[in-house]
Amino acid sequence: MREPGRPKGEAFLVEMRGIERTYTMGDNLVRALCGVDLTIERGSSVAIMGTSGSGKSTMMNIMGCLDQPTKGSYRLDGRDVARLSRAQLADVRGRMIGFVFQSFNLLSRTTALENVEMPLLYQGVPARERRRRAERALEQVGLVGREDHHPNQLSGGQQQRVAIARALVGEAPIIMADEPTGNLDTRTSYEVMAILQGLVGRGKTVILVTHEADIAAYASRVVTLRDGLIIDDRRQAPISAQAALAAAPAAHASAGASP
Ligand SMILES: Nc1ncnc2c1ncn2[C@@H]1O[C@H](COP(=O)(O)OP(=O)(O)OP(=O)(O)O)[C@@H](O)[C@H]1O
Ligand SMILES: [Mg+2]
Repeated sequence: MREPGRPKGEAFLVEMRGIERTYTMGDNLVRALCGVDLTIERGSSVAIMGTSGSGKSTMMNIMGCLDQPTKGSYRLDGRDVARLSRAQLADVRGRMIGFVFQSFNLLSRTTALENVEMPLLYQGVPARERRRRAERALEQVGLVGREDHHPNQLSGGQQQRVAIARALVGEAPIIMADEPTGNLDTRTSYEVMAILQGLVGRGKTVILVTHEADIAAYASRVVTLRDGLIIDDRRQAPISAQAALAAAPAAHASAGASP
């Protein structure tokens, strides 16, 4: 039986209407979002761009059920989430969204495998099942053989892949990433984008914030914010990160190296 309030069939995955977010700073009001309307279909990849302070993270936090709007309506997978309690919001978040951050946010004294298992621990999944699913998620991001490494024993790109595996392990349909390539070199950024594109190919919806136009080029849609409003929204044929990766020089290639 479907949940009450959930429309049949083709509801948008994300449906924001008139979203405002105002922060109170002493006597001042900071209007971070000033009326955002945005719908996102399942299986798409959306890059959110805009200058510093334009409201990207604020929008992402609301979209990711980490924060709630001051005004407006937000339906996630057909369900009105703008007025849920904290506990209900956490529940929706856990089922619907995997997060990836610029600074990876891995636990440093914990192995790659344990980092990936973490969300399942909170969900009460039994140990053997946690291990099996975490191993599979690490496999999906090409990290077989690195399960027992701690974050400081992994490269930046490998750490971000662990973070992507952690976002995948709960089988949430949406991956949200705030500047996922912000701390990575060009080639490693391509690797991470290739993984994210692969996930879109398998039906996930990927929503990412980026400052870089060449990263946004891997998405099928680019939404640009300015001063808390969407000022541009365009669809595009994404370029292939896999192809960019193939064309990029190898990480440790040096000039004059023999073939
Ligand atoms: N917790 C907060 N309290 C008060 N003001 C805030 C808070 N978070 C964000 N703001 C303000 O809201 C506006 C939008 O901030 P936001 O973090 O969404 O920008 P952004 O587009 O993500 O910027 P950046 O590219 O630098 O990460 C800014 O003016 C910021 O100062
Ligand atoms: Mg931000």
